[in-house]
Amino acid sequence: MLILGIESSCDETAAAVVRDGREILSSVISSQIELHRPFGGVFPELAANAHLEKIEPVVKEALETANVTFREIDAVAVTQGPGLIGSLLVGVSYAKALAWGLDIPFIGVNHIEGHVYSIVFENPAVEYPALALIVSGGHTNLFYVPEEGKYKVVSRTRDDAAGEAFDKVAKMLGLSYPGGPVIEKLAREGDADKIKFPIAKISDGRPDFSFSGLKTAVSRYIRENNVKPLAENEEPDQQIKDICASFQATVIKSLLKNTAKLADELHPKTLIVAGGVACNGALREASEKLAEKLNVPVYFPSKHLSTDNAAMIAAAGHFHLRQGETSPLEMTADVTLRLQNLENEDAQLKSKKVRYRL
Ligand code: KG4
Ligand code: ZN
Repeated sequence: MLILGIESSCDETAAAVVRDGREILSSVISSQIELHRPFGGVFPELAANAHLEKIEPVVKEALETANVTFREIDAVAVTQGPGLIGSLLVGVSYAKALAWGLDIPFIGVNHIEGHVYSIVFENPAVEYPALALIVSGGHTNLFYVPEEGKYKVVSRTRDDAAGEAFDKVAKMLGLSYPGGPVIEKLAREGDADKIKFPIAKISDGRPDFSFSGLKTAVSRYIRENNVKPLAENEEPDQQIKDICASFQATVIKSLLKNTAKLADELHPKTLIVAGGVACNGALREASEKLAEKLNVPVYFPSKHLSTDNAAMIAAAGHFHLRQGETSPLEMTADVTLRLQNLENEDAQLKSKKVRYRL
């Protein structure tokens, strides 16, 4: 079974052809990083326009590389949400038109579920229950996955996503967008114990994440210590490297503290760490150490499958198709789509007043 996956939720236009949900015949990604770099983040209108321009050539390249024709595709899977509305609509409309024209099934996929499926290509089969840490520029969640396709959010960010914190701290330091890879590189030459940045404790007792306090602490440190953001082409000094290392170590500590706590409660048989931030080598190393302590395997996607891609969307779509779940052509993009199909008794916490202690 050949599935054409399409992803356009943020700033990557991507298409992939995947056989039987596991074998990548092609995965084409057209990144808009250069387009958004001057803004230090994604500029939504520019993103939507770029997707419009790129979607057709990217899909054609994916088919050519896989050496298949439109007629050989069995189904189209596309990211339905969450993401930027203008960006999502380009992929959804294109996929819909294609599925209708070819008279083949059409499957709307949750982007976060796509990240969960990014590990299926290069790892052994997942043993359930699993605990999945999905960390990207837009999301930071821990999912309890008792069986394939069932998700319960057991920890989420109350404010910024971890990747967003990397991007914002990079901007404060005058480093280029996206922040994650640059901070990781500089952190290798910095002292992670140099600055004690705080980890937020959320006073309602839930093991949720919070990164906006950390971002503010970095900003305060920069101000109080007169750190000058780097000018273009300026070499970073030791102080900047130490900030990067200390910040990165705090993010990792915070991510894995909750993961360890919930693993103790939920006894997963597999850990999954995926999403753009999973490119981070220090996070991978620390996750491996945690998994060893828990005596479970940890599965990561390879780096090119960690950031947004369409192969993971095709893999998730394949699962739904196998379950007999397809989407009607009336389906449309959903900016706020959530990934949770199991009851969470803590859902009402959202409305409670939350205090943070740093
Ligand atoms: O999954 P992704 O491509 O897009 C979203 O769905 O958000 O993730 C992009 C995010 C960016 O915030 C970027 O800074 C972060 O992943 N990222 C990293 C690294 N590479 C990318 N964060 C930390 N370390 C990295 N090496
Ligand atoms: Zn993503």
